[in-house]
Amino acid sequence: MEKDWWKKSVVYQIYPQSFMDSNGDGIGDLNGIIQKLDYLQNLGVDVLWICPMYASPLVDNGYDISDYYKVNPIFGTNTDMEHLIDEARKRNIKIILDLVVNHCSDQHEWFQKAKADPMCEEADYFYFCSTEDDQEPNNWRSNFGGSVWSRLPDGRWYYHTFAKEQPDLNWECKKLRDKIYEMINWWLEKGIAGFRVDAITFIKKDLSFASKEVPSGERYPVEKLTDYPGIGVFLNEMKKQCFEKYNCMTVAEAPGVDNQAFERYAGKEGYFSMIFDFGWENMEEENDKSSIEAVERWKKKIFQNVSNNSKIGWSAIFLENHDQSRCLNKFLKKEAINFYSASALASIYFFLYGTPFIYQGQEIGMTNVEWKNIEDMDDVRAKRTYQEAVDQGKNPQEVLAYFSELGRDNARTPMQWSDEKNGGFSIGIPWIKCNDNYQVINVEHQIHNPGSLYNYYKRLIKCYHDHADIVKNGAFHTLYENEPGLIAYEREWNGTVLTVAVNFTNQKLAMPYIDQPCILHNYKAVNTSQMQPYEARIYYGRSAEA
Ligand code: NOJ
Repeated sequence: MEKDWWKKSVVYQIYPQSFMDSNGDGIGDLNGIIQKLDYLQNLGVDVLWICPMYASPLVDNGYDISDYYKVNPIFGTNTDMEHLIDEARKRNIKIILDLVVNHCSDQHEWFQKAKADPMCEEADYFYFCSTEDDQEPNNWRSNFGGSVWSRLPDGRWYYHTFAKEQPDLNWECKKLRDKIYEMINWWLEKGIAGFRVDAITFIKKDLSFASKEVPSGERYPVEKLTDYPGIGVFLNEMKKQCFEKYNCMTVAEAPGVDNQAFERYAGKEGYFSMIFDFGWENMEEENDKSSIEAVERWKKKIFQNVSNNSKIGWSAIFLENHDQSRCLNKFLKKEAINFYSASALASIYFFLYGTPFIYQGQEIGMTNVEWKNIEDMDDVRAKRTYQEAVDQGKNPQEVLAYFSELGRDNARTPMQWSDEKNGGFSIGIPWIKCNDNYQVINVEHQIHNPGSLYNYYKRLIKCYHDHADIVKNGAFHTLYENEPGLIAYEREWNGTVLTVAVNFTNQKLAMPYIDQPCILHNYKAVNTSQMQPYEARIYYGRSAEA
């Protein structure tokens, strides 16, 4: 297999619970994914990232694993997993799995043993401590609200970065690390092509566990304690003992990795093949996202990040994932959402320096839901943070509005396959409600329509593959930076150049002349001196110096 094969690949992210339900129990499953492999092959993607499908009580939808070796029965069996890997391989599609090893579930055998017996080997796999008084050991705040410490009936406290049902694993313990590496290699031996590595910058703790200074009554956010000094020892060890042996793809979720640290994580000798570029993931701070000023600020962030990172290493570039709201809502005001703006958005990110990721439903333009009450939501983060905020006296409607716009459940509603009941996702009752707009936005309506967003994504992917050498090797240069509303850049390599030019506004824009053939665009006709609202063009030709 070609070294760095992932630099020529397009990844499609699947949230198994919401992708396709094959047995009518309202929950997506592995056989459902198998049924849709032809669809994915037709789209043209190379790799599927499957979010956690392991045994789990699903407190955090599978990011709380109770058995790393076992497929959750609600998704199928280990044999189904092997079948999926085989069927995907037949279609030239590779599978990567989620690797969740900062924490496990409190239902994992290790934690159950550690809970029962403070002296057993497994007690060293977690962070336990005792205090003289009834106070938590420090003032750190967990990512899902409240303290990072929870208490066992025998009085011991244990540490959790996320929910209390997700105890953190103690990476200082060599025996535990070896168990993790054994499990990673077991899956790699099964033929998977790599991992998306969850929350990995949290694995090294500040072992002083000393309280931090914060305004009185508040807690110190643990997300500030990411990439703690010494983490490299663990990450290099994992790379050596597992990933390196298989030429596998690893993509790390690495919050807290700044420009300085990027090289250690995703440079030539980095711990991983790539890390997600979170530098321009939303426009949360903008009141009018579709104003030229907002677009300019966003463009600056993209360009700063990509200009820096492209000289140092490789990124995973994305617009959506299972933790975020839908990209059309993140980057556009409601009135501006249409085929042109959606395809413009896709064109902006696809050829930036890195491996493009598509999240299920993004290719058909799925949107956020209008959540009317917190009970309709499922997400543990939304529910617990909502409760915490309301208990502190915040207005429930305001907190709900926040999660309605930015909550993770927006991405977790069932995939919209058709205009049939439940969007064709399930004949049962879906575990989370469908977006009401499935009758308008669905795969069936788009797949045979050459002018659909689905077919635009298909063309983008083909273009990516047709120009694989330039997307892998081409230097990134920004273009026309001072033209407000125009987002343009080029990738240049070996005498050739691929140019992306997108008018990301709802007005016409004067267009600088580009002396190359336009190979992909989202309008029917191309006017060389003017761009239509949300017009996107990709050009390819010889570079000026060639
Ligand atoms: C990041 C995952 O993407 C998210 O869904 C999960 O809740 C946390 N890590 C904890 O595993």
